[in-house]
Amino acid sequence: HCFGCGAHGDGIRFLMEAQNYTFMEAVKDLAGRAGLSLPTDHREEEPVEDLTPLKAALQETALWFQRNLSQPQGGMALQYAGKRGLTRETLKTFGMGYAPSGRHHLEAYLKNKGFSTEVLVKAGLVFQEEESAHVYDRFRGRLMFPIQDTRGQVVGFGGRLLNVGEPKYLNSPETPLFSKGKLLYGYPLAKEKAKTDPLLIVEGYMDVIALHQAGFKGAVAPLGTALTEDQIRLAWRLHPEPILCFDGDSAGFKAAMRAAERVLPLLKPGYSLQFVFLPQGEDPDSFVKKGSLFQDLLSRPLPLLEALWLFLTQGKSFKTPEQKAALQKQCAVWVNGITHTDIKKNYQYALKDFFYRDFVHKKAAKTVVSPLKRAPLNFMGIYERLLLAILINHPTLLNEVSDELSLIDFQESPLRDVRDEMLTFYAAHHQEPSSLRETLLLKGFETEVSMILSPQTLIHGAFAQAGASEAEAHAGWKEIFGRIQAPSGSVDMSLAQSHLAEEMTEKAWQRLKKLKKSMLLNG
Ligand code: UTP
Ligand code: MN
Repeated sequence: HCFGCGAHGDGIRFLMEAQNYTFMEAVKDLAGRAGLSLPTDHREEEPVEDLTPLKAALQETALWFQRNLSQPQGGMALQYAGKRGLTRETLKTFGMGYAPSGRHHLEAYLKNKGFSTEVLVKAGLVFQEEESAHVYDRFRGRLMFPIQDTRGQVVGFGGRLLNVGEPKYLNSPETPLFSKGKLLYGYPLAKEKAKTDPLLIVEGYMDVIALHQAGFKGAVAPLGTALTEDQIRLAWRLHPEPILCFDGDSAGFKAAMRAAERVLPLLKPGYSLQFVFLPQGEDPDSFVKKGSLFQDLLSRPLPLLEALWLFLTQGKSFKTPEQKAALQKQCAVWVNGITHTDIKKNYQYALKDFFYRDFVHKKAAKTVVSPLKRAPLNFMGIYERLLLAILINHPTLLNEVSDELSLIDFQESPLRDVRDEMLTFYAAHHQEPSSLRETLLLKGFETEVSMILSPQTLIHGAFAQAGASEAEAHAGWKEIFGRIQAPSGSVDMSLAQSHLAEEMTEKAWQRLKKLKKSMLLNG
């Protein structure tokens, strides 16, 4: 019994709740600890085979790959790893290695160690031709990523080509130990950090490794397939609300949507998924190298509820009654996927709220309020991004609002830099502001621009989207700018306000003066 929270139960219940085990998993774990054997389930006809030799062969192979990497033959692979920014320490932490390009090196090595061909085939290390029964090493000329199960036992490998070619990554086949859909790459390492770090679910091996190296040590990846139910349950053993962070392309967006759909039947009190969306063309591996931007994105993940709303509405219009009804229908389909009764009701209410907020009582000013209230810590950041998004999508508004723009004291320096560039641009081109976006891109602000225009920002205000009318955009600007400027009575607001006053630096003042002057000169 926990006197803190009142939870109580027996040992089995404890493991089920603390580790997210199923009943049978908990029983097996406890039996193992107590040295008891479980009565065999006679419905399973297959005799339980001894997997010890398979495990040993995989372990030997991992060590052999690893040794190869530091020998002359592994030179190219080591060079490639260096080119990808991996340090020696990282290579060691992840046990990375090299599979040389011959067809029988690994086979010969393991045979010599006393392993049978049968074991090597079964472990997925060599490939057997059907007709001739000839065997070849499966992994050749690749940088090797050992894949471990939850306990740290190597159960398979992924191997990356050092040059362009197909397939880019080759993985172990399904074996008695290796089942793609039931494993998460990086699990044992993430487990060590799960108590302190957020848990990120990313798409690829390289993402996990790059994040780890950059200090985000709780990262795992499915193995090149859509996120499965088993993988979601595994992730929940580490953290109740993992953050999905897939590639910033349409495939990544769709994969996130599928994961959202898949998690619905599994939802239970306290357990969910969160989402962040990377700018177009980025994956975690590339984006984490851009410094504070990644941390910033992680600090405001979208909860599943808001991500669902985004998936339901993104890029569509809901002007006619028929379109609205179609949206309601789709909402119902998704909500009906939720098994847990209370959670289902909560989603029903919340989505109904969103629907009325965005498509029924659609007063421009009211639209933005509610989602922001749910993220009080970060709302200034969202306001600031929205303001910049409005201008990038509607640059002619600069004619009206450039003074106000120059007054904003952006909290984050990348945003401040974008603003400064906008003002410089406007000072020079205020009669023809339409090329603002291209100018920002040319000046090297690609990442910032795509971040400002990411769905994660735009979901908070339709008026900032490219499809909004000039009038809507202007109304949105007034609303948001007003919020940044004038306290509305809430504690958060007045805090922000005093922060703004304190930070109203000499530099900002100088910037304003300079702009005025240059406008006078140019005008
Ligand atoms: P990506 O193509 O996004 O990989 O595939 P990546 O991590 O960005 O690769 P780099 O940066 O080019 O090295 C994501 C994941 O999909 C699986 C792998 O697990 C990979 O990490 N995949 C991809 C395959 O299994 N086979 C492939 O040919 C490609
Ligand atoms: Mn990728």
